[in-house]
Amino acid sequence: MDLEGKVALVTGGSLGIGTAISLDLAQNGADVALTYRRHEEEAKAIAEQIKAMGRRAKECKIDVSDFGEVQNLVNQVIEEFGHLDILVNNAGMNWDGVIWKMTEEQWDAVISVDLKGTFNFIRAVAPIFKEQKSGKIVNVTSINAMRGRFGQSNYAAAKAGTIGLTKTVAKELGRSRVNVNAVAPGLIETDMIKSMPEENKQKSRAETVFDCLGQPEDIAYLVTFLCSEKAKHITGEVIKVDGGQYI
Ligand SMILES: NC(=O)c1ccc[n+]([C@@H]2O[C@H](COP(=O)([O-])OP(=O)(O)OC[C@H]3O[C@@H](n4cnc5c(N)ncnc54)[C@H](OP(=O)(O)O)[C@@H]3O)[C@@H](O)[C@H]2O)c1
Repeated sequence: MDLEGKVALVTGGSLGIGTAISLDLAQNGADVALTYRRHEEEAKAIAEQIKAMGRRAKECKIDVSDFGEVQNLVNQVIEEFGHLDILVNNAGMNWDGVIWKMTEEQWDAVISVDLKGTFNFIRAVAPIFKEQKSGKIVNVTSINAMRGRFGQSNYAAAKAGTIGLTKTVAKELGRSRVNVNAVAPGLIETDMIKSMPEENKQKSRAETVFDCLGQPEDIAYLVTFLCSEKAKHITGEVIKVDGGQYI
């Protein structure tokens, strides 16, 4: 995939899926600004790895749920890199609990990061992509947006909201030749699922047709494709990468 000369902004690049996406975009030629919130050392190390590939890279600390901070960050990235071509909204969190025990704090936290965070970044780049008449946006949702999951009403609602956001923005920015898509992972082996009971992981693994959980790279390869000109006629789509877990 030829992303030479493109500048990408990847949220949540310090861990898991975001790290794999940042590295794969760079491997395919892009310069990458990656965001982190808590894992500064990890984010710095990824930026160094990208620089070692001969690309430009920068790690940026941000809370994606802060509208003003996001606007400033997008402006800074454009000032430093000269332009922006790709936005990957990957940062996310979960804070599970059954609905009869879910607190307002749990609900708000997940909606603020997973849904509002995605809105914040899209809102910041939309005028720029519209003006330059090009751009790629990929949002990371989840198969649980489409089927629900016990104990994840906040997360499933945020990720389902992300799908509605993706399709709407695809329509709104289509005339400006901006592609807007979502990828929906099944269970992927990252820090996010570390605290999940082993029994639940086994159940999810058994749901896949391969009897195998996904790796962060499985998501990254699709994201890179969607950010390339080879995917120029794909927009408003939600593509599952789940080893058949959903079917
Ligand atoms: N793993 C799975 O099974 C799975 C399945 C479906 C969908 N997904 C989605 O895939 C995406 C990546 O998940 P992952 O498994 O790679 O998760 P992860 O390993 O927990 O990494 C999450 C990333 O998001 C960042 N982040 C979290 N809250 C943030 C905030 N308020 N502001 C800024 N950054 C924040 C983290 O930054 P710091 O750590 O530096 O704070 C980290 O880089 C998420 O959107 C997740 O919902 C994951």
